[in-house]
Amino acid sequence: MRKRRAVISAVGMHVPDRVVTNRELAERVDTSDEWITERTGIRERRIVANGQGNSDLSAEAARRCLSSSNWGPEDVDLIIVSTVTPDMLFPSTACVLQEKIGAVNAWGFDLLGACSGFLFALATGAQFVETGAHRRVLVIGADVMTSIVDPLDRATCVLFGDGAGAVLLEAAEEAEDVGILDFILKGDGTGGKYLYMPAGGSLKPASHETVDKRMHYVHQDGRAVFKFAVTYMADVSLEILRRNGFTTKDLRLFVPHQANLRIIRSTADRLSLSEEQLAVNIDRYANTTAATIPICLWENQTQGKLNKGDLVLLTSFGAGFTWGSVLLRWGI
Ligand code: ACO
Repeated sequence: MRKRRAVISAVGMHVPDRVVTNRELAERVDTSDEWITERTGIRERRIVANGQGNSDLSAEAARRCLSSSNWGPEDVDLIIVSTVTPDMLFPSTACVLQEKIGAVNAWGFDLLGACSGFLFALATGAQFVETGAHRRVLVIGADVMTSIVDPLDRATCVLFGDGAGAVLLEAAEEAEDVGILDFILKGDGTGGKYLYMPAGGSLKPASHETVDKRMHYVHQDGRAVFKFAVTYMADVSLEILRRNGFTTKDLRLFVPHQANLRIIRSTADRLSLSEEQLAVNIDRYANTTAATIPICLWENQTQGKLNKGDLVLLTSFGAGFTWGSVLLRWGI
């Protein structure tokens, strides 16, 4: 008998209405539409309205996800929200969301894996379904990056946007060859110095000094992150395909974390992927951290590019360093 598999049975997403173009950013910092487009592939991004937080985006994504499933909010057993930008440190965004969507029978928690967070949350949620502990797990990747990006730092403020994506995990029917086949997730704490937010935690709580020194914002060495991202994303993708007896030719869709179009293209080149196999939406949403992969999944599903049984590879890289891949057969 095959081991019980967790399958993505529904997807949803939500981004704020407000679009910010490169030209608009160029009015605030010393940059240009040409520089941003050429170096990153980003043309525009969405940003939250005043008073709109992570749980507002997550709740809309969750509602959309559940409305395309056979279930209501009261049928959800567990909510996992992956984010580096929760509404507040506690209570968890998962608890705020549980109340907002009326998931009265669910427990939940937040998980911090930066740009790899959605894959960490997906693999974690899948364990509860595979063991039979839970029947329906809502996995959310959501970030309001504009809340932690220095609006005056041209090296980072052009890269990020706000958004949320949600998937529902259930047990796959035993007769169907769908669901999560495997995952490889990795971490290397020596990479922490290249991408981090220095203050706001227990080490450096908020003070006048941390605010004056702009320590509540993302700090990164872009070149170092770029170099590691390409190598590690390609390596882990090949590793998971190889150990499951596949090659990149078997893939219907490769969904990389959307941090920079040049990272995406370099990784795709190393994997010899065709344009049709590659999911890209960074031009419209920029880097939404934990949300990039589920938003891509929603887009490809709603555009009819994914069919039941398709082999799909999700790969990410982010702060930590953290990186990894999840290999699955599409189940919707
Ligand atoms: N507009 C104009 N010029 C700029 C801008 C800008 N927005 N940003 C930087 N520059 C300048 C720099 O100051 C530098 O000028 P100099 O040569 O006079 O010093 C020049 O452009 C080149 O800078 P580089 O940093 O070498 O540019 P690069 O081509 O590497 O692109 C970028 C920078 C886009 C940040 C790239 O390195 C990158 O995408 N890195 C990966 C980032 C990433 O993936 N981060 C993930 C974070 S998500 C998470 O885990 C939370």
